[in-house]
Amino acid sequence: MAQNKTRLLEILKGQPVVPVVAVESVREGVELARALAAGGLRSIEVTLRTPAALDAIKAIVAEVPETVCGAGTILSPKHFEAAEKAGAQYIVSPGATMELLDAARSSDVPLLPGAATPSEMMAMIEEGYEVLKFFPAEQVGGAKLLKSVAPVFPQLRFCPTGGVSMANVGEYFALANVVCVGGSWVAPKDKVAAGDWAAIEALAREASALRG
Ligand code: 3PG
Repeated sequence: MAQNKTRLLEILKGQPVVPVVAVESVREGVELARALAAGGLRSIEVTLRTPAALDAIKAIVAEVPETVCGAGTILSPKHFEAAEKAGAQYIVSPGATMELLDAARSSDVPLLPGAATPSEMMAMIEEGYEVLKFFPAEQVGGAKLLKSVAPVFPQLRFCPTGGVSMANVGEYFALANVVCVGGSWVAPKDKVAAGDWAAIEALAREASALRG
């Protein structure tokens, strides 16, 4: 199956910023998801960068129904299957391999694959993908790159992630090919570790009000 673009756009279009988070425990994941949702950010990407990630996804899906919980840093079919089994509602990868796309083809869970160059974008179009993560956004050319590819690939929509912050997010939101951005700034590590959920809710509220 080609990309489930409709479902993915439903998930991503609902909010300007998708928090990219790494959680150290299941409880931390649940509390963090609650705080972000309370601030208006219901779609989140829990990265598979910590041992707690899969169990945290499971718990968020079960205990925080207002959250749409995605799994990120998916690098292989094995990761894809584990995230799907944990109940992830969408899957995000920093790039794409044929093996990963094969795993996605036999699943109902939508995949947001990463692309950073015109060749990678062309490869994704050939595989039926039109909604892409643009990663690592700032490091590979930022909003200027996305603006340059817009007339070349009018069918593509992007979620730029990597180095995006309150300081530069406006450059991305000025572009019609940007659906939303991803970023970790709404869940700073020190505030998460301190359990400062009120501060995170406030950051989420500020981010969810972006782009009108
Ligand atoms: C990601 O994990 O997708 C990005 O590394 C998040 O990038 P940021 O920490 O620069 O927001």
